[in-house]
Amino acid sequence: MTIVIPVRAASHPYDVAIGDGLIDDCATWIMPWLKRPQVTVVMDQTVADMQGPRLLQNLANGGISSRLIIVPPGEASKSFAGLSDLSDQLLALQLERSDVLIAFGGGVVGDLAGFAAAIYKRGIDFIQMPTTLLAQVDSSVGGKTAIDTPRGKNLIGAFHQPRLVLADLTVLNTLPDREMVCGYAEVIKYGLLGDRAFFDWLEANGAKVLSRDPDALAYAVRRCVEMKAAIVEVDERDSAGRALLNLGHTFGHAVEAETDFGEGLKHGEAVGLGCALAFRFSQRLGYCSGQDAERSARAIAAAGLPTRLSEIDGGPFAADALIRHMAQDKKASGGALTFVLTRAIGEAFVAHGVDPGRLRAFLLEEGAVQ
Ligand code: NAD
Ligand code: GLY
Repeated sequence: MTIVIPVRAASHPYDVAIGDGLIDDCATWIMPWLKRPQVTVVMDQTVADMQGPRLLQNLANGGISSRLIIVPPGEASKSFAGLSDLSDQLLALQLERSDVLIAFGGGVVGDLAGFAAAIYKRGIDFIQMPTTLLAQVDSSVGGKTAIDTPRGKNLIGAFHQPRLVLADLTVLNTLPDREMVCGYAEVIKYGLLGDRAFFDWLEANGAKVLSRDPDALAYAVRRCVEMKAAIVEVDERDSAGRALLNLGHTFGHAVEAETDFGEGLKHGEAVGLGCALAFRFSQRLGYCSGQDAERSARAIAAAGLPTRLSEIDGGPFAADALIRHMAQDKKASGGALTFVLTRAIGEAFVAHGVDPGRLRAFLLEEGAVQ
């Protein structure tokens, strides 16, 4: 069964289709967006090896010719150098303004190709075909596109909504287990930030999602996309409520930065740790019960995600270094620390002007050092 969730973004509305085997029928979905029956597809080498032939064959079967651009796998492709290479290849292929780019991959390819689409000839249409759980539940929806710089992640980018998102759950069959767990961190984040009933469901069914049970996976992806669509519809350009999607990210990004964004700690793992820390910090500040903080950490740990700083290689971490990264977070304004905190499971809120002294004391309690 295919589920279609509309995203009524202010810039333009579009659909997110979720289902098993959508790739096999992708030409039917994509053709209406084309002025000529030709697309350019960006994917990384791993996805090209594992899923590329299936996509290209199905496009051809549906009468769409494709040109392929392969980028190296990994976060390093989301850089000025990666963007320059990709833009140069688009120019060499002489893409016209009315042509359509397809991002077939995880969040790295989606963010990079989406940003290239936003700026190529001042903007062309693109379609997201997410191939990781993280990309299906989060990065392919909502139009945030970006690259990293040595000064931080996602600092150069644009809002550029896709015309269509096609999330085929069967492509997750080749995704390594560790990447499934990383995507699951974003799944559990949705329950923690705004839907206690979904969190309850994940407590009972999380293992099924991780083992790629088709029904459990379909429900989890659907619920996350519904929640993200609702948030993006109200605050497309991230000036208010969209910040809730960053639950766990302020702590998580700081630890990622201290571990040089290396393979030892992947983004999803940092988000899992960050959510556990955000709940315990909320408890410490008197917003949230210890019971909910413990329950959220138990569910995060049950998925195989870290919940304590001591579990992360590269520590112990200096509290002041972590706070410096947190002060550079995109949510910070006027020099004040901003966090997504919680009153309970499913009741996150944005807290401005968090006291650095209380944050420092909390980090020291959590095992950070002076
Ligand atoms: P990723 O794109 O690097 O993919 C992870 C790994 O899985 C890669 O090695 C890739 O080659 C491999 N892979 C992808 N699909 C596969 C498949 N079907 N089978 C086998 N291997 C496959 O990482 P990710 O976790 O998908 O995305 C992380 C990125 O997303 C980060 O850069 C993060 O900043 C960004 N992000 C963006 C948003 C947004 O709103 N734009 C939201 C969250 C995260
Ligand atoms: N992943 C955060 C956002 O889309 O706003």
